[in-house]
Amino acid sequence: MAEILALGISHYPPLLWPDKNMSGLLKAMMRNPNLPEALKTPAGWSKEMQKEWGDDEGETAAAGHREQMVDWTRKARQALDDFNPDFVLLWGDDQYENFKEDIVPPYCVNAHPEFRFHNFPNNIWEEPVEKEFVLPGVAQAGKLLASELIKAGFDTSYSYKPLHHPLGHAFTNAIFYLDYDRSGFDYPILPVSINCYGRHVISQKGGLPSFEKELTEDDLDPPAPTPARLFDMGAETARILSESKYRVALVASSSWSHAFLTKKNHYLWPDIPADRALFEAMACGEYTSWRDYPASAIEDCGQQEVLNWSCLIGALNELGRGKPDVAAFVETWIFNSNKAFLISKP
Ligand SMILES: [Fe+2]
Repeated sequence: MAEILALGISHYPPLLWPDKNMSGLLKAMMRNPNLPEALKTPAGWSKEMQKEWGDDEGETAAAGHREQMVDWTRKARQALDDFNPDFVLLWGDDQYENFKEDIVPPYCVNAHPEFRFHNFPNNIWEEPVEKEFVLPGVAQAGKLLASELIKAGFDTSYSYKPLHHPLGHAFTNAIFYLDYDRSGFDYPILPVSINCYGRHVISQKGGLPSFEKELTEDDLDPPAPTPARLFDMGAETARILSESKYRVALVASSSWSHAFLTKKNHYLWPDIPADRALFEAMACGEYTSWRDYPASAIEDCGQQEVLNWSCLIGALNELGRGKPDVAAFVETWIFNSNKAFLISKP
């Protein structure tokens, strides 16, 4: 029988750039003209925020945040290399990259023969944007997964080539970070794009809020798939692949609550209590509570991208896994999002 390794990591874009830029998202949200007067300067922030901000706009804290993230991602990479999969399935959000006005599927199995992509400008590895990364896909395994999902009632969409964007940042950054030390990454990949942004995928272009015009209910798009549906889809994926001939690493790629999606926190800091509660359940192996998590909480807490992890947690539950071998929570008030990491070995 096939074996499955499960990993959870982050694709946090600011890790691509120097520490002094890591508080850039917070600075962008501080330009919100509707910000309450008290929050316009650090003097009005919580003690935790002030501490991270320090006297250098978060640069010192950024180094620590990076160190923790890189450390946990290296552990995930080690587990991946020890396992040596036939391919790596990645669940990642599509932020207005291939899910655009012309079509927004709930999720999409990208059964491409290969992927060609580039790094972002001014990255810390000083890789020129012209440098092309090429990774093999697993078209046949992708077709198998899509076929079996459909037979099981998960009428998934699928693609054989990119529509607009060669490969979304949830996937490229996961690969860049799993290869943070640039020793090379040549595992074939099966990216499964998830419409995590739901009501904000087109209206907010899967990104930062606009401060010029507040979105009304009429502006919003139809919702994302629910946590329960993605939990079940992840479970079905694990069942299908565990009965296949493949050794597969299942990877959820995303950070958790995002400040720029958390309206109740004025878009300045993420929903730390909500993330902690989900993390505690995951770390204790109480996976089914994730299936019951309300879609309204996902939006209220800025946890849209946690939906990638709903797939992973559903898979863990289906595989009958106990507590994860590794579960780590990297908390921050000023760097937009909390990060979680998970390793569950077969
Ligand atoms: Fe993302």
